[in-house]
Amino acid sequence: MDRIRIRGGNQLNGEITISGAKNAALPLMVCGLLTDERLVLSRVPRLADTETMGQLLAQHGIAVDSVSDDGRTLSLGGPITNTEAPYDIVRKMRASVLVLGPLLARTREARVSLPGGCAIGTRPVDIHLKGLEQMGALIELDGGYINAKAPNGLKGATIVFPMPSVGATENLLMAAALASGRTVLANAAREPEITDLCDCLVAMGAQITGIGTDKITIDGVATLHGASHEVIPDRIETGTYACAAAITGGELHLVGGRMDHLGAVVRTLAEAGVEITETATGLLVRRLNGLHGVDAITEPYPGFPTDMQAQYMVLMSVASGASMVTETIFENRFMHVPELNRMGARINVHGKSAIVRGVKQLSGAQVMATDLRASVSLVLAGLAAKGETIVNRVYHLDRGFESVERKLAACGADIERIPG
Ligand code: EPZ
Repeated sequence: MDRIRIRGGNQLNGEITISGAKNAALPLMVCGLLTDERLVLSRVPRLADTETMGQLLAQHGIAVDSVSDDGRTLSLGGPITNTEAPYDIVRKMRASVLVLGPLLARTREARVSLPGGCAIGTRPVDIHLKGLEQMGALIELDGGYINAKAPNGLKGATIVFPMPSVGATENLLMAAALASGRTVLANAAREPEITDLCDCLVAMGAQITGIGTDKITIDGVATLHGASHEVIPDRIETGTYACAAAITGGELHLVGGRMDHLGAVVRTLAEAGVEITETATGLLVRRLNGLHGVDAITEPYPGFPTDMQAQYMVLMSVASGASMVTETIFENRFMHVPELNRMGARINVHGKSAIVRGVKQLSGAQVMATDLRASVSLVLAGLAAKGETIVNRVYHLDRGFESVERKLAACGADIERIPG
C-alpha cells in the first residue's frame, strides 16, 4: 500500500489548479442513467471514486468513455441493461446508492445493496427510501439489499425532509425529474453540488425551480435528453489548500477556487487571521500575522462543512489560544484527533466537541486515518510539523484528492509518494 512521506517546515508558495468537485461529479455521472442520449461531463476529477462510479454505471449498461487527452471529459450513454447495484461496488462507495432513484424512474425497478455504516458514522438511507415511497415506490429490504419497484411509475409528491440530506436530495431530484406530476422537496440540502446537479438536469430538459434554496420544485417530464456540463471546482479541495497556505505561512493562488461556494469557511479563516481575496481566476490565500483560535461548528451548507472539519482542526492545533470545534453532522468524525495528538497537538474530545489548545509546533510521526478528510488533515499536519511524517493508508486520499502530492510539491512542499 502506498504511503506519503512529508518533511515539514517548508512554506508553500505558488499556484494550484483546483480539480472538479468529487461530490458534484458522482451524482452528475449518475445522470447518465436518466437518458439513452449522450451526456458529456467535463472537469471530472480523476479519482478512485469516479473510477468506481464508472464501473457501477458500466454494469448497469452505461458506457463511460473518456473523450479528452487528460481523461477529465467523460461521455456517458447507452440503454440500461441491468438494474442491480451489487454489494461489491456499493460497499466501496456509499454514493452508489444514488442510482436507486434514477433506475426506479427509468425502469420501474431497482435492486441496490444497502450501503451500511462507515468509519465516520452509521449513515442510514432511510430518508432516501421514505421519499421514494411517498412517490409510489414499493420498497422491501431483504438480504442486505433494497428491492424497489414502482409498478405504476413514480408520481410527484410533497416531501418534507426531517433534516437536509445531500444524498437524499440528489436521489429524489433525479427521480422526480422523470416522475409524473409535481414534486416539492422541502428542507432540502442546498450544497453547491446540488445546484450543479440541478443545472445539469435543466440542461437535460428537466423543469426545476427553487434551485439553490431549501424548497425545490420539480415538474416531471416524460424524457430527458443528452447535454454537456462542466463540473464545479471542488470547494473542499479549495478550503484544504487554503489551510495549507495558512499553516505554512506562504501564499497560494488557488485557480478555479470560488469564494461564493466557501461561505462560512472564508469567514472563519478570516477571523483566525487568514486573508482570502478573489482574483480574476481564483482565490489568493495568505496568512496575515499569527493564527488565532476561533470556534467552528459544522452545519449543512451554507454553514461550516463537515468535510473541512479535520483540516480546520489542524490549523487550530498551531494557532495561538484555544478553540472549540463541534461536529454536528456525523457522530464519529474525530478519528484524526488521536493521530494529531501523537504529532504533539493538544486536543480533547468531549462528545460532539473538541477543545483544541494551540501548540507552537507539531512534530512528525507515522500516522494513518480511516477516512478521506482525516487523511488529508494528516498531510496538512505533516507540512507544518518538524521532521518527517509518514501518512499510511493513502488509498483514502486517492478517493477524493487528485494528485495531492504533486500539487503540493509544485508549491515547495517536501512531499513524495512511496509506492508499497
Ligand atoms: C454527502 O454525504 C457527501 N458525500 C459527504 O462527503 C458529506 O460529508 C455529507 O454529504 C455532508 O455534507 C457525497 O456527496 C458523495 P447526508 P451524504 O445525507 O449524502 C443523516 C466526503 O468526505 N442521514 O447529507 O451521505 C446522515 O447519517 C464525504 O467527501 C440519515 O439519517 O450525507 C448524516 O448524519 C463524506 N438518513 C446526515 O444525515 C438518510 O437517509 C447528513 O448526511 C440520509 C442521511
